[in-house]
Amino acid sequence: MAQVSMTVNGKAASGDVEGRTLLVQFLRENLHLTGTHVGCDTSQCGACVVHVNGQAVKACTMLAAEAEGAEIRTIEGMANADGSLNTVQQAFQDHHGLQCGFCTPGMVMSASALLAENPNPTEAEIRAYLEGNICRCTGYHNIVKAIMAAAGQDVSKIAAE
Ligand code: FES
Ligand code: FES
Repeated sequence: MAQVSMTVNGKAASGDVEGRTLLVQFLRENLHLTGTHVGCDTSQCGACVVHVNGQAVKACTMLAAEAEGAEIRTIEGMANADGSLNTVQQAFQDHHGLQCGFCTPGMVMSASALLAENPNPTEAEIRAYLEGNICRCTGYHNIVKAIMAAAGQDVSKIAAE
């Protein structure tokens, strides 16, 4: 066991982990931040996406020890300071960008990273960026629509699905 320390959602966090402990396990099991989901064991689903130093990363593809000293943000750290939903979260709610909700934390984290690097993405760019996020409810249409709305685009003529 070795101690790891990092900043998670703006607060110092540390814990003892084994060398093989994944970042997603550390977040869920040590810090009890269970909003970061595990939907596969093949690094394909994207339910575990968090931000590591501002970049979207699948937290099942990284060891906790590799995050030593990093700035981590999880879905629990995405709301506004007053607890209200942020722009991306609100857009998912407004445009029914979720069904069962299992993929939603990863989708919101990926969408937020996309908008940080490309504030006005086309529909094709959104779909390409979300290639690593699987929605088993197959609600992609409304997810893409929500992200377009979060970018400030007029989605009033796009039908709901
Ligand atoms: S749990 Fe990380 S990609 Fe599926
Ligand atoms: S909303 Fe159910 S998996 Fe995406």
